[in-house]
Amino acid sequence: MADMPVVVLISGSGSNLQALIDAIRAGTLPVSIRAVVSNRADAYGLERAAAAGIPARVIDHHDFDGSREFCLALAACIGEYTPGLIVLAGFMRVLHPDFVAQFRDRLVNLHPSLLPRYPGLHTHRRVLEHGDKVHGASVHFVTEDLDAGPVIIQGRVAVEPSDTPESLEEKVRGVEHWILPTAVRWFAQQRLTIDDGRVLLDGRVRPEQGLAQGAAREINQDNGTSTTSTTVFK
Ligand code: GRF
Repeated sequence: MADMPVVVLISGSGSNLQALIDAIRAGTLPVSIRAVVSNRADAYGLERAAAAGIPARVIDHHDFDGSREFCLALAACIGEYTPGLIVLAGFMRVLHPDFVAQFRDRLVNLHPSLLPRYPGLHTHRRVLEHGDKVHGASVHFVTEDLDAGPVIIQGRVAVEPSDTPESLEEKVRGVEHWILPTAVRWFAQQRLTIDDGRVLLDGRVRPEQGLAQGAAREINQDNGTSTTSTTVFK
């Protein structure tokens, strides 16, 4: 089977992009990154792309009147590479619903929390404020609702009393560097399906994902402040 063409969207340092590049080089990830697109011209990830011989493009959101116009330009740029998968690897813009609809089921995002806990920003600080003992990262399919699409894989880290937002960020990033290539590999191997809002791997629900879905229900019932959801993740 030919390597799946992929476009990676970034906004910053691109360490997760590098994890994908390294996995491809190691022969463990059957994809070909056709382009890296950043909404910031100063993103270090663009240099990582160039060093790996990958076309590096910039679509600066400041150049557009709003999210719709920005996402139209982004979609046109991505379309040049006919990707089978688009990976949001630290891409820090909210995507317009039309963009999400256009690339539905082939758009995955990396998020630094154990979704459905802590969608949005400042996840490490919020984990500490809430007193959680477990934290982590998720890769999920993107839907119109922010950070709420079906989860493909999660990686966990223990939260220690000495942790700070910065130390948690570092720990979580280590987890991200293996869950993102793993999720992309499963997608490229066509092992993922979405069934009734859940992701199946080889046709089966993964146990951890079952917990996450249960937690989603509890949190929804409890307006996001459930204490029982904490125990679900232990
Ligand atoms: C990651 O922690 C990701 O979860 C967050 O932004 C960070 C990107 O890191 N949304 P990098 O650019 O891949 O180094």
